[in-house]
Amino acid sequence: MTGITLRHEGATLVVGFDRPDKRNAITVEMYGELAAALDRAEADPAVRVVLFHGTDGVFTAGNDLRDFLENPPDGPDHPAFRFIRTLASANKVLVAAVDGPAVGVGATMLLHCDLVIAARTAQFAFPFINLGLVPEAGSSLLLPRLAGYHRAAALLMLGDSFDAETAREIGLVSRVVEADALQTEALALAARLAAKAPEALRQVKSLIKSPRHEVDTRIVEEAELFMHRLRSPELREAIDAFFAKRQPDFSRFA
Ligand code: COA
Repeated sequence: MTGITLRHEGATLVVGFDRPDKRNAITVEMYGELAAALDRAEADPAVRVVLFHGTDGVFTAGNDLRDFLENPPDGPDHPAFRFIRTLASANKVLVAAVDGPAVGVGATMLLHCDLVIAARTAQFAFPFINLGLVPEAGSSLLLPRLAGYHRAAALLMLGDSFDAETAREIGLVSRVVEADALQTEALALAARLAAKAPEALRQVKSLIKSPRHEVDTRIVEEAELFMHRLRSPELREAIDAFFAKRQPDFSRFA
């Protein structure tokens, strides 16, 4: 049991984050499984849509913070980067159904999904700055493009969480529904997409996405800074503070 569930609903591959005791935080093993599942889906003509979801009231708390200390990403072949690359390069339609916290990569991955449906109770955050980190997964390019510079700056420089309605206003979420309708609505949306002409749908996706080269380049630039930051005393202070359930104190850093 890796913390990832996979099931097929018609032409939809339903991918679940399933580690609720740790708020579905994503471990190295889970990233590996996610990347492999996306690779298989990409090669499988029977899969037309991939739908991501969490468990009741939690999408995902993002990267497992213990892994940041014990198994930090150390190069482009690390499963976390493989997952991000497979998301960014997916030709299949990606849908996400979000309830509860969608934090860190749980929020940045949504920038690579084509449609995002959220429960009214969803909460989003790009908390990298609060961990002494920089944004990842191309979010430093895609978020300002989506939300405008000043809103992106507020989200990435303050790292505060924000609600589903705000996520809809900035364009991160396509539709907000009641929590008890989320799964049904998301599956219905995926089924509608899966019924469209597949080649035309792939072409629409390719036309409307930001240019691949630009996004790929930014992902690599961010990853280099991110890996460097993972070895910083600022990150160590932030993660120690998280597990000690206290606020980080960055006052001693220059
Ligand atoms: N990595 C590892 N463990 C995590 C985690 C993460 N990203 N997020 C939560 N957990 C663990 C907590 O340590 C806690 O474990 P414990 O029961 O052994 O003490 C458990 O999950 C529950 O977390 P808690 O903070 O009590 O849950 P909550 O419902 O009050 O808050 C979040 C949920 C997601 C808002 C909060 O856990 C959080 O902010 N997590 C960190 C998010 C983050 O910074 N992610 C990395 C982004 S790069």
